[in-house]
Amino acid sequence: MELLRKEAAALPPYQPFPSGAKVKLDMNENPFPLPEPVRRAAVDIAGRLNFARYGDSGASALRSALAAYAGVRPEMVFCGNGSDEIIHLFLTAFGGNGRRVIVPRPTFVTFRREAILSGAELVEVPLAPAESADPFALDIEQVVRLAKEKPGVVFIVNPNNPTGNLIPREALLRILAETESLLVVDEAYYEYAGTTLAGEVARNPRLAVMRTLSKAFGLAGLRLGYVIAVPEVVAALDRVRLPFNVNMFTQGLAQAAVENAPLFKPQVAALLAERDKLWQGLAALPGVHPFPTHTNFILFTVPQPPSTVWRKLFAAGVLILDVSRDPLLKSCLRVSTGTAEENAVFLKALAAALA
Ligand SMILES: Cc1ncc(COP(=O)(O)O)c(C=O)c1O
Repeated sequence: MELLRKEAAALPPYQPFPSGAKVKLDMNENPFPLPEPVRRAAVDIAGRLNFARYGDSGASALRSALAAYAGVRPEMVFCGNGSDEIIHLFLTAFGGNGRRVIVPRPTFVTFRREAILSGAELVEVPLAPAESADPFALDIEQVVRLAKEKPGVVFIVNPNNPTGNLIPREALLRILAETESLLVVDEAYYEYAGTTLAGEVARNPRLAVMRTLSKAFGLAGLRLGYVIAVPEVVAALDRVRLPFNVNMFTQGLAQAAVENAPLFKPQVAALLAERDKLWQGLAALPGVHPFPTHTNFILFTVPQPPSTVWRKLFAAGVLILDVSRDPLLKSCLRVSTGTAEENAVFLKALAAALA
């Protein structure tokens, strides 16, 4: 279509994601039900709100609750309709017009798509084995060199998706110390990894930490992501967002979830224990090699074409993610940790698919 912007024409339209599988382990969601007080709050909030009115366009109560959870001031929090929207807003505010945007590869795909859409100069830095023996280490020298040469935005997912590895905080701090670029660290899996750069934000006006309630808080369908950054960065995102980007129900339920954060801790612990069992189960299968992970998902290699294995699993009612299109992940699939029962079904189906 001639009228389409060339940046939009460069992107394939989103296709609906595969669905309908009995066992869904493709999107790193929390498989457990919401803690009962949070579920009750959802019902209460839905009954109490007046949906005929626009909500609080500043999401002020939610920002305060998230600030308390993250240990920062409310002026240092921004809320979006999922991290996905926030990535779009970062690129609207700081990308575009040939501005350099540096993203490791492989990583979460939305950065690439949104950088292309914004018209930025996208530079992808392949992850590569390091002396540390991490097969997916960040080439920090290259990132620093590129970010110094032409300041722009650096997006780093930590721990990374789909590889599950953790980038050392000293490496991230070097990007801030040695360049003039804005560093956005996506901590979507923070509650599983347990490490954060949030405490560095007040000292570093070019650092933004992004998180989501879609993973450990079990609210992927609610759509709430947030940023921890200095007020100037928060104001930049407030300039470019739509006025009611976080709807009133999401604001209410996200606040209830965050105020009940301790109730999610046993779920995190249980899921990590299940993940370790799942990892052992994968390692026990002939020809299967799971990589170390700091998240609720596991990247693993299979001794047959991954797309064939994926199809066999799907036919058996198990949905995982085929990541093998990336040249660095040619023999890899990614599985999210489910409940003990779901993991058992998956491992059995995988063993059958490989037999
Ligand atoms: C690294 C990373 N960032 C962001 C997201 C998306 O988060 P949200 O549901 O808040 O848009 C995901 C989801 O898989 C992710 O893995």
